Amino acid sequence: MKRIGILTSGGDCQGLNAAIRAVAKTLYNYYGTDGVEIIGIIDGYRGLIYGEHRKMSPENFSGILTMGGTILGTSRQPFKLMRVVDENSVDKVSEMKKNYKKLNLDCLVILGGNGTQKTANLLREEGLNVVSLPKTIDNDLWATDKTFGFQSAVDIATNVIDCIHTTATSHGRVFIVEVMGHKVGWLTLYAGIAGGADIILIPEIPYDIKSVIKTINARTESGKNFSILAVAEGAISKELAALPKKQKKAAISEMAYPSISYKIAKEIEDATGRETRVTVPGHFQRGGSPDAYDRVLSTRFGVAAAQLVIEKDYGKMVALVNNRVAAVPLEEIAGKLKAVPIDSEVVETARKIGISFGE
Ligand code: F6P
Repeated sequence: MKRIGILTSGGDCQGLNAAIRAVAKTLYNYYGTDGVEIIGIIDGYRGLIYGEHRKMSPENFSGILTMGGTILGTSRQPFKLMRVVDENSVDKVSEMKKNYKKLNLDCLVILGGNGTQKTANLLREEGLNVVSLPKTIDNDLWATDKTFGFQSAVDIATNVIDCIHTTATSHGRVFIVEVMGHKVGWLTLYAGIAGGADIILIPEIPYDIKSVIKTINARTESGKNFSILAVAEGAISKELAALPKKQKKAAISEMAYPSISYKIAKEIEDATGRETRVTVPGHFQRGGSPDAYDRVLSTRFGVAAAQLVIEKDYGKMVALVNNRVAAVPLEEIAGKLKAVPIDSEVVETARKIGISFGE
């Protein structure tokens, strides 16, 4: 009897349940329902550290394809604290190894984003058999063209910009839609293009507020009574970006606004006299059903991950490379962020149709 653990870790996203379902169905189909036992680890690595898990049965994986969130629960367990004992002197890494052994697992299937993949690699280094899947609305995982969750979040953020378009036109206002993404701007870039934003600000391309204002004024002068900005949570001005890391962090945390969008809105209003509003869809972007694209991608990834388990090809993350599902060694991807290349074709596309990046 094979015993496979499965956990979801980090921020949730659409498609987690679809991927879990695909892993389980493939394993049950291959080994038979009597030939494999699947153990659900509760709330991500926290469950592995503190021994919270439940025995799953085939029924648990039915009817979940379209469900948002994760049936296993999730939590954030920062990688940098993994080697730090907790407030009760619990050594997390050693507890995770102990629980893996206690559960008599053949392999642990891990669904997660960047931090999760780093811990998956740590567990691999510690001798555990792991296979992982790339999830996140941020699409910032190295070595995969797409992560599941991304496209569904793009759809939601695009819909927000679409809705804002109608009210912005009626009132002749400037609107900022703040899109998730502290470190990378994939989501903002795609939703911005799809929603027809006039200005897109992403962390990879620091902005000059004077250039943003110039674009808005130019639109006003040309008779356009509204402007829409898609701004990433992590958008940063050229001045801040030029600061040393520590000073930059301090300046961001001392900012007298709830988020960067509100600061930009104030600067626009002061400089142009135009009414400027901010909309922050926030976690709305991570909620609800996965779209059709993510259901398919999650299913492809889930099947490929189960195949790695069956072939005992451990220590790898499944990935989408040139539209084919592949497997990449965890040590090659752990800790690497996939930012938007500023000279990429998609950025150029936006520039060529006149979208400003506030440079
Ligand atoms: O990593 C996914 C993500 O949604 C980011 O886009 C966002 O900045 C962050 O998580 C929010 O984290 P939390 O859910 O912990 O507030």
